[in-house]
Amino acid sequence: MKSNKNIVLIGMMGSGKSSIGKILSKKLKLIFVDVDKKIEDSENLKVSEIFKKHGENYFRKIEEKISLKSLNSENSIISLGGGGFINSSIRKMCEKNSLSFWLDWKNETIIKRIYKSKKRPLAMNLTKAQINNLIKERSKFYSLSDYRIACDKLDKVEIINKISDIYENK
Ligand code: S3P
Repeated sequence: MKSNKNIVLIGMMGSGKSSIGKILSKKLKLIFVDVDKKIEDSENLKVSEIFKKHGENYFRKIEEKISLKSLNSENSIISLGGGGFINSSIRKMCEKNSLSFWLDWKNETIIKRIYKSKKRPLAMNLTKAQINNLIKERSKFYSLSDYRIACDKLDKVEIINKISDIYENK
């Protein structure tokens, strides 16, 4: 029987939540919701500009509001920001009507991607050791998700198939 549950994608910046979510939503015919994109639309600013102009606390408040609203839906794939699942209200909401999947990669992969991107205000100026630390701290929360997908040995299609198999057989 087809589930009406949401899929929530969690993980560090650069773990592919948005790109995998988009493809997965087409395959499963679900609505794709990118929380960062929704925040940018609601503020009419890029995430990096929100950080610069209003600071992280302000961003986290909007992130909470928009994440909770997005999670209060059905048949959607929701890509949370990398810090979303650290918030206990967001985590609780994920338990209600969603299956959460942690896209887990080796630290080196994440670090490379973060340094390559210009739109990651939180981690761009951190040293490798600081990013390793952030990953370690965050992983304690990410590991509370329903499923951990070890992505390093898989290609994009295999990651997508793995998530859709789990979802369709629930
Ligand atoms: C953040 C991750 C970003 C964005 C913001 C903060 C974080 O989202 O929400 O820059 O705290 O890890 P992505 O994970 O989609 O890059």
